Amino acid sequence: MTRIAPPRSDRLRRSVLSVPAINQRALEKTHELDCDAVIFDLEDSVAPDRKAEAHENLKAFLSGKPLEGKERIIRINPLSSPFGREDMQLVLDLVPDAVLLPKVDEPQDVMAVADLLAEADMPEDLRIWAMIETPRGVLNAASLAEAGRTPGTRLDCFVVGLNDLRKETGVLPQPGRTYLVPWLMQVVLAVGAYGLDAIDSVFNDFKNVEGLEDECEQGRAMGFAGKMLIHPAQIDAANRHFGPDEVALAEAHAIIAAFADPAAEGLNVVNMNGRMVERLHLAQAEGLVHKARLIAARRTARRKTT
Ligand code: COA
Ligand code: MG
Repeated sequence: MTRIAPPRSDRLRRSVLSVPAINQRALEKTHELDCDAVIFDLEDSVAPDRKAEAHENLKAFLSGKPLEGKERIIRINPLSSPFGREDMQLVLDLVPDAVLLPKVDEPQDVMAVADLLAEADMPEDLRIWAMIETPRGVLNAASLAEAGRTPGTRLDCFVVGLNDLRKETGVLPQPGRTYLVPWLMQVVLAVGAYGLDAIDSVFNDFKNVEGLEDECEQGRAMGFAGKMLIHPAQIDAANRHFGPDEVALAEAHAIIAAFADPAAEGLNVVNMNGRMVERLHLAQAEGLVHKARLIAARRTARRKTT
C-alpha cells in the first residue's frame, strides 16, 4: 500500500452551515449567504413528529432554484433509527453532493450507506460525510478514515460533533477546549493519514463573536479545513480564518516562483531568502493558490448576482 496520502479535497469547505430542514425561511436564506457548503439537517434539529414536514420542505427547496456554488449535504438520521431509511430514500430522490451520516461508530456504518448508494446507481460524485461525535467514533477515527481507501466507499469528509461527544463523555464546555483537544487532534491525524477533510465542530453561542473568533483560530491551527456553523452571523469569521490569509498567499506565490526558476530545475530543495523550501511545500503552495482562485471566482460570481 502506498504510504502517501492522496491529495485532500480541493473544494472550499471553510464555512459549512447547518440549516434545519424544518425551517423554510432559513432554507431560502441560504441562496444569499456566503458559506461554502450547506448541511440540510433532518436529524438533531428536527423533532421526531416533524420529520415528514422537513422532507417536504427539503424536496420543495432543492427542486427549486439551484443553490449556486455551494456544496449541498443532507444530514440523515441513523439508518438504525425509525427515520433512517426514509431519509436515505430522500437522498436518492434529491441527489445532493453528499450525505452526512450522524453518530458514525465504525466502518460498517459507512459501508452500509455506500452499498445503498451503489445499489441505486447513484453517481460517484455523490459523496459520504461522517459525523465523528461518539466516543467509539473518535476511538475508531483511523479505521474509519482508512475505510475511505476502499473503492466505492465515497468517504470524503469528517465533521466533529462536540455537543454529542460532551454529552457522552461528561467533558464540560470550557474556553480553549482543553480536554477535547487530544480527541480533535486524533481526528485531524486520521484524515491527514488518508487524505480526507476534517471540519471542526459547531460553536453554540452564536452571539459571542470573540469566542467564535478564538475557536476558529484554534481550529485552523489544529489543521481543520473549516468549521460547521449554526448561524449566518458565523460565516464571515470562518471564511476569514480558514481561508488563505494574505501573508500565506504571498509566501505561496514566492515558493511557486522559486521552483519555476530554471536554476531550481532538478532540485528538491531550494534556498528561499535563507530558509529551506522543499518540493512538498510547492504542492501545498499550489493548493493554497488554487483555493484563493476559487474564492476570487466566487466573489465575482456573487457580485454579478447581487
Ligand atoms: N441558516 C440559515 N438562516 C438562518 C440560520 C441558519 N442556520 N439560523 C438563523 N437564520 C436566519 C433566521 O431565519 C433569521 O432570518 P430573518 O432575519 O430573515 O428572519 C436570521 O438568520 C437571524 O436569525 P436569529 O433571529 O438571530 O436566530 P433564530 O432565533 O431565527 O435562530 C437558531 C437561532 C439557533 C434556532 C438557528 O440559528 C438554528 O436553527 N441554527 C441551526 C441549528 C442546527 O442546524 N442544529 C443542528 C446542528 S448542531
Ligand atoms: Mg449530533
